[in-house]
Amino acid sequence: MATDHRTEPGSPAPALSDPEPPPAAATEEARAPGGGGDPFIGERVGNCWIVAKLGEGGFGTVYRAIDEETERPVAVKIVKPERAANEEVIRKFLRGAIAAAQIEHPNVVGIYRIGRDERYRRHYIVMEHLKGRTLQAVLEERGPLPPSEVIPWILQAADGLHAAHEKSILHRDLKPDNIMLSAEGVIKITDLGLARQMDRNVKTTKVMGTPHFMAPEQFEGKGMDRRTDIYGLGITLYYLLSRQFPYEGKTSMQIVFSILTTPPRPLTEVVPGLPADLWEIIRRMIARVQTERPGTLRDVQADLRRVLAGEPLPPPPPEA
Ligand SMILES: Nc1ncnc2c1ncn2[C@@H]1O[C@H](COP(=O)(O)OP(=O)(O)OP(=O)(O)O)[C@@H](O)[C@H]1O
Ligand SMILES: [Mg+2]
Repeated sequence: MATDHRTEPGSPAPALSDPEPPPAAATEEARAPGGGGDPFIGERVGNCWIVAKLGEGGFGTVYRAIDEETERPVAVKIVKPERAANEEVIRKFLRGAIAAAQIEHPNVVGIYRIGRDERYRRHYIVMEHLKGRTLQAVLEERGPLPPSEVIPWILQAADGLHAAHEKSILHRDLKPDNIMLSAEGVIKITDLGLARQMDRNVKTTKVMGTPHFMAPEQFEGKGMDRRTDIYGLGITLYYLLSRQFPYEGKTSMQIVFSILTTPPRPLTEVVPGLPADLWEIIRRMIARVQTERPGTLRDVQADLRRVLAGEPLPPPPPEA
């Protein structure tokens, strides 16, 4: 896997006036209705021809593109300019992206190249193009999902995340938007290690999206570890099963206050008939204090498999 986080000195300079022609497929799609309006469609960024917009997040915009060298379909995330302006943020972003590029796992999206396009002055990430939908999209279409479907997805996600954790890489922004499901039922984690840095100022969570999936230590500026991701996966599991969150609040500030000070709403109250042991697993995953959460995702997986098999959970380990 090639990782080029430099300013691409060796690669052909992105021509300003005389770019090579894009592959026919790229231009045809770019001219298609809906392709207009976006300045990148039909253009070349990071040696890829940008074909269509796939979606937009807090950090950048993701496009379907064609790698001009391999002619393979790829996804290109182009970082937003306001973020690109801040060198400190960019340094952290690049560090995270390079770390994530080291993970080769079937449940983690592959990163092919990281760089900066000098023509547009934007950083970008070229990654595996995933055919499928985010779990957020699945949830929006189908509503709360049954444990028999959700648990196997979470087991796969945990496999990919565990591989990252074994290399000391944290995701830090786990949520159903960052987990994709293919038509074949394969789960892929996206945006590993790319989480925007949490500003102590809670107001920034507005820019950053919902604070629901963030662990208390992320608000409190305390040390994060793999249990920070276990928390995010626990909230993801709660949300997929109920389409609700364990903490309430109309504003980001209220939600954060609730996360830090109130007990979570038991999932068995939200979803009647849900196995009590499943709520017990989630309750431990989202414990406010890190040391009360399971130590590794392997522990979580073992418990989730017990629930699927209808076996009782072992008692929680004594507090560390
Ligand atoms: N590798 C990929 N292949 C195909 N589609 C992707 C890929 N990565 C992201 N997407 C699509 O692009 C959309 C936007 O992703 P993006 O990461 O920018 O936003 P987000 O996940 O909603 O928020 P955040 O910025 O917090 O990660 C996703 O919802 C998904 O539909
Ligand atoms: Mg994302």
